[in-house]
Amino acid sequence: MQKIRIKNRIEIEKMKRSGQAAAKVLQAIADAIEPGVTTYELEMVSRKAIANLNATSSFLNYVIPEHSPYPATICVSVNNKVIHGIPDKSEELIEGDIIGVDTAVSIDGFHGDNAFTFPVGKISTEAQSLLDATKASLYAAISEAKLGNRIGDVSFQLQNVAEKAGFSVIQNFSGHGIGRNLHEEPQIPTTGKPGRGVRLRPGMVLAIEAMVNAGHPGVDALEDGWSIVTSDGSLSALFEHTVAVLSDGPEILTGSPIWENQ
Ligand code: MF3
Ligand code: CO
Repeated sequence: MQKIRIKNRIEIEKMKRSGQAAAKVLQAIADAIEPGVTTYELEMVSRKAIANLNATSSFLNYVIPEHSPYPATICVSVNNKVIHGIPDKSEELIEGDIIGVDTAVSIDGFHGDNAFTFPVGKISTEAQSLLDATKASLYAAISEAKLGNRIGDVSFQLQNVAEKAGFSVIQNFSGHGIGRNLHEEPQIPTTGKPGRGVRLRPGMVLAIEAMVNAGHPGVDALEDGWSIVTSDGSLSALFEHTVAVLSDGPEILTGSPIWENQ
């Protein structure tokens, strides 16, 4: 197993900058989301924002085993798409959709990663409660990312809050450590038991991902080689923050106004 890379104070400061840049890209995309916009147009907004920030996309051309290089700077997952949807000129947003947008950038050698699921215009009550529960599960998990706890305490909250709301967590994908690499140890599963797993230490930086389906937890991969959809066609939501585990508690590095009062 790969080693967990602990970040020192200077490295945490650098990660704050990349986290804030990733948050700004997500904000720029938030401003562009409305009925009639295509997911390809959102990709163009992202590219412009990343260039303006003098950052580099962490996703573009990223290679994971058994996949072709990722072709975009954002993942866009509309309605029953869970994660890793590829922006497309023929995919137009319509009122009532929900769209998960995931983006990561690097600055000065360190990555920041975040995702948010946005409503497109007015959405159903069920869709809104899915967004609320998924976001709440992420924040409950983040509050457990503190000394004295283990990864299982974080994962347990992802699962528990989502299931208590009547939803389910996908089990084939995880959050991850982050730093000089987009994906580092440890993995952060969406299910877990309190008191189990890797012990949290100061200087760990975690990209915690809440991935919640309205229906069953099963997912399928589409033929584009990337998109993951719910097997039962139900809606799915995704929220992700990059979080530093510090001696005085967790610090969210990717915070921005889009997360407030939603
Ligand atoms: N935030 C997701 C993750 O960390 C997105 C990965 S998409 C890819 O796994 F393009 F980077 F692969
Ligand atoms: Co991630």
